[in-house]
Amino acid sequence: MKVLSVVGARPEFIQAAPVTRALRQRHQEVLVHTGQHYDDLMSRVFFQDLAIPEPDYNLGVGSGPHGRQTGDMLARLEEVLLIEQPDLVIVRGDTNSTLAGALAAAKLHIPLAHIEAGARSFDRSMPEEINRLVADRVADLLFCIAPSAVENLAREGITTGVHYVGDVMYDAVLTFLPRARERSTILARLGVAPRGYILATVHRAANTDNPRALERIVTTLATLDEPVVFPIHPRTRKALAHLGTTFPPHVRAIEPVGYLDMLALEDSARVIVTDSGGVTREAYFLGIPCVTLREETEHVETVIYGWNTLAGTDPVRIRAAIAHARPASARPPVFGDGTAAEAIVTLLKRAPIPSHRPAHPCQHAAGRLLEGSLDR
Ligand code: UD1
Ligand code: UDP
Repeated sequence: MKVLSVVGARPEFIQAAPVTRALRQRHQEVLVHTGQHYDDLMSRVFFQDLAIPEPDYNLGVGSGPHGRQTGDMLARLEEVLLIEQPDLVIVRGDTNSTLAGALAAAKLHIPLAHIEAGARSFDRSMPEEINRLVADRVADLLFCIAPSAVENLAREGITTGVHYVGDVMYDAVLTFLPRARERSTILARLGVAPRGYILATVHRAANTDNPRALERIVTTLATLDEPVVFPIHPRTRKALAHLGTTFPPHVRAIEPVGYLDMLALEDSARVIVTDSGGVTREAYFLGIPCVTLREETEHVETVIYGWNTLAGTDPVRIRAAIAHARPASARPPVFGDGTAAEAIVTLLKRAPIPSHRPAHPCQHAAGRLLEGSLDR
């Protein structure tokens, strides 16, 4: 099969690594980077750390309002799909790149696989929730990371093409953790000791675009009485600059880190405080207690089994959750056994035969490519 994979944002690069490796043993892959994330520390570092092949196309879309960003991706992806004529498109997660990839494939009647299907926050004010709902509605193959995702899809009447395969992010952790433990020097560089610090990340729109929520979070971090390592997403850095926030010395406010350094930081943290979906699951994989800076999580299993406490942005609740955070007794393998990528690649052959092929590459698309609007 010729499979076209769409990636664009940080977690998608990490999810792509194990899938790309398994996929290229049996199929041809065309890798398309939408350009949603573009800073070296948000993009290039992951291709290096995880040895992901160079993308065949970089659409260079960049940042912008959701409509324009998603629309630009959709238009450029359509051109690439018309040129490449893949048998299947793979999207992952819940970003605007996911949404654009799903719509572009569906409009051209190209079978679509969605990795991390069925995750739901039940909060439609989250841009990610809209992206997931749409992607799952048009996907032919829906790969779920946990039982709750299968149940969510069933409640929406989606049962065909649904497979519980586990989480490819767990595959990535199992592959790269030994390398992170061996090579990363980040703890020494930051002057923190194993189990002697809290690792924090914040980037959700609800927390960064609401100055009061962000202020409450960072004030709480600044008044904890143990070291905090805080790799700051560019969105959050901009919001903090707007607020004029400065941090006391025990908060190591640093640039975003590469994947191996992040795994090393997660692996040795006493507690992880985050609003990230990927980081929440990684905390579970690594057996580190997690405090979620939201009122809900898509990954309910992490709460059910006692590894994750929902604290919202209330300083009292965050402080109490951090103070009481302890490893729970059991960590059932609800996110699979680290072979999700293999399972996905095996199941790809169940993709439906396209009802009709997309039109032959049109002059327009070919012309744009020659003019260099697509950076191949
Ligand atoms: C996006 C995803 C979110 C995911 C997150 C992973 C959507 C709607 N959101 O959020 O689901 O959890 O990625 O990190 O797709 N910026 C830079 N450099 C970059 C990238 C972004 O400076 O390389 C800044 C820009 O100011 C930009 C802002 O970050 O406007 C937000 O970036 P964007 O990709 O729109 O959303 P994220 O918050 O990163
Ligand atoms: N991550 C990283 N460096 C950082 C912050 C996060 O490598 O400075 C990794 C993290 O380990 C996880 C992924 O990025 O694998 C999660 O991405 P993010 O939190 O941006 O998005 P989400 O998972 O919430 O969509």
